[in-house]
Amino acid sequence: MPAKKAPAKKTTAKKSSNTKTTKNKNVLFRIHRAEREEDGSLKTWVDEFKVEYAPSTTILMALEDIKGHMDGSLTYRRSCRASICGSCGMTINNRSRLACKTKVSDIVNGIPEKNLPPCDVIEIAAQKNQPILKDLAVDISRFYKKVDSITPYVQDGKEAEKDVNKTSFEQVNMVSNCIMCGNCVSDCTSWAQNEDFIGPAALAKAFRFVADPREGDKTKRLKELSEKNGIWDCVRCGMCIDACPKDVAPMEAIMKLRHRAIEAGITNNRGAKHALAFKGDIKTYGVLNEATMLVETVGLAGMLGQVGNAVNMAKKGKIPNPLPFGHVDGLDEVKKIFKELDENPVDVETRAEDTGPGAG
Ligand code: FES
Repeated sequence: MPAKKAPAKKTTAKKSSNTKTTKNKNVLFRIHRAEREEDGSLKTWVDEFKVEYAPSTTILMALEDIKGHMDGSLTYRRSCRASICGSCGMTINNRSRLACKTKVSDIVNGIPEKNLPPCDVIEIAAQKNQPILKDLAVDISRFYKKVDSITPYVQDGKEAEKDVNKTSFEQVNMVSNCIMCGNCVSDCTSWAQNEDFIGPAALAKAFRFVADPREGDKTKRLKELSEKNGIWDCVRCGMCIDACPKDVAPMEAIMKLRHRAIEAGITNNRGAKHALAFKGDIKTYGVLNEATMLVETVGLAGMLGQVGNAVNMAKKGKIPNPLPFGHVDGLDEVKKIFKELDENPVDVETRAEDTGPGAG
């Protein structure tokens, strides 16, 4: 069907003409549209459509209804309709979801355990953090370049092991469930601030190879991943875990990579130094010493680059106290926890042996 000329501004809601199925409710879809102009600029507008839905109607089915009966020019990607191909990732009420896995009724009624309130308008937009090509279709080339940058295949090398045990297989299996939908990247707050950040999908994929016993160059991988824009640039917001439709939990994979990097002695970088200084402060004082932690993280030379920030903080009375602390409530308990962990280390990847304080 030829594309209709795009309206210049918000339009009056169009109504579904699909009356062949038994549907008894309707909801307003507010869709953020976009189209490239000849000069390359992006023209954007919003269209509204009233859509009938049944309890089993997915967002993708509703979009198909809109495209088939109301506006054939609406553009989005989809293929399998079964949460397998990863093409239908988009923003649904500002959270990145698969359209084929998300039910209209769940969005309308809300999901309290996922902190989703009920609503009477469903707002659909393209994925975030990636350039829009048209309407809900984004340019995924940058996403794939980053996945490519982590060398996404097992390499020969002296660190390759012959035995593959059940635990190592489970680690690999967890991240192998990724369907490359890009939802984690769309909701990634680090990527939003720094487009050079490798991102949760590529880092989860990297963990899949570091954790694979057959991989021959694990240490080299960990060294590369510990560089700028790698594992230490994640701010642990947890949005990627919520966005992932396959429970890959990319942020957890990133935390495991950090742990493996430190265990491998790859600590000559700001991220690892910061983590170790943080741990040292808590273990010794029970609280953070912000002033000394900065020195331990960036070194004295690096402090020079922070002079501007320090002056601004001083003006606002926010310079932390660099002097040793007085009494800290609960310090004995903190020390006991560290002693317990030193004597009975927890496997941070499986947490199988975690029976110590606070476990369960
Ligand atoms: Fe394939 Fe949604 S259409 S994942």
